[in-house]
Amino acid sequence: MAEAVMTKPVATPSADAAPLLSVQGLEGWYGESHVLHGITFDVRPGEVVTLLGRNGAGKTTTLRAIIGILGKRKGSIRYDGTETIAMASRNIAKLGLGYVPEERGIFSSLSVYENLMLPPRVKPGGLSVDQIYTLFPNLKERSGSQGTKLSGGEQQMLAIGRILRTGAKLILLDEPTEGLAPVIVQQIGRTLARLKTEGYTIVLVEQNFRFAQTVADRHFVVEQGRVIDMIPNSELDANIDKLHTYLGV
Ligand SMILES: Nc1ncnc2c1ncn2[C@@H]1O[C@H](COP(=O)(O)OP(=O)(O)O)[C@@H](O)[C@H]1O
Ligand SMILES: [Mg+2]
Repeated sequence: MAEAVMTKPVATPSADAAPLLSVQGLEGWYGESHVLHGITFDVRPGEVVTLLGRNGAGKTTTLRAIIGILGKRKGSIRYDGTETIAMASRNIAKLGLGYVPEERGIFSSLSVYENLMLPPRVKPGGLSVDQIYTLFPNLKERSGSQGTKLSGGEQQMLAIGRILRTGAKLILLDEPTEGLAPVIVQQIGRTLARLKTEGYTIVLVEQNFRFAQTVADRHFVVEQGRVIDMIPNSELDANIDKLHTYLGV
C-alpha cells in the first residue's frame, strides 16, 4: 500500500452542522426480498463519509434507495430539509443528488465528450467541460476517443466528471477505486479531496478502507442491511481490529 503518498483529508466540517442528508430507518426491497432493515446515518454539508461493509451488506442498495431507483423503500431520506422517500428519481436528482454507479455506465459507442454531455443539467453551478478537463487532464487528451478505448481509471474519471457537469452537490460514489492501479487510486483520492474543498458532499462506498481513510471524515459500517457502527476517521487506526472483524478481512 502507498498510503504515505496519498492525499490527507481536509478539515472535518463542524460536528454541530445540520445534516445535508439524513437517512432514518431506511428499508428497501428487491421484489419480495427485503434487504435494507433500517439504515440510519447522516452526512453534514461538505463532509465525506464512507459506507463500509462486506459484500452483500446493502451498501449499493442504500445508494440506489437514496437516488430513488430501488423498487420499494420505506423510512425517511431527507435532503437539505426535503423528504424524498416518495419522490421519483428524476425529481430527487433535481434537488442536486448525483449517483456514480459501480459499473460506471459509460456508453462505449460515444466519445468522451459525448458521454460528458449526456446527463441533463439538474441545477445551475455544474462544471463546464473545460473545468472537467482541468480536473481530469487525461480526459481532455481522450476527448474524441470512444468509451471502449478508455482504461478503467479513465472510465471512472469520466463517470465522476459527467455527474459534476449536472450541478449535483451531493455525490454518491460506488466503489470508485475498484480494480484500479494504485497510481490511479491516488489520482481519484486527490480529486475527491479537491471536490471536498470546493464544497461538495460525498457518500463513498469503499472496500479499500486504507483508501477511505485518506479522504473521509466518518465511516459507517453496514451489516445485513443496517448501520451497526460509526467510526470517526481520527479513530480508525485505534479501531482497526474491530474493523477487520466487521469486514472479515
Ligand atoms: N437486483 C437484485 N435483485 C435481488 N437481490 C439483489 C439485487 N441486488 C442485490 N441484491 C441482494 O441485496 C443484498 C444487498 O446487496 P448490495 O446492496 O449489492 O450489497 P453491497 O453493495 O454491500 O455488496 C444482497 O443480499 C444481494 O444479494
Ligand atoms: Mg455494492
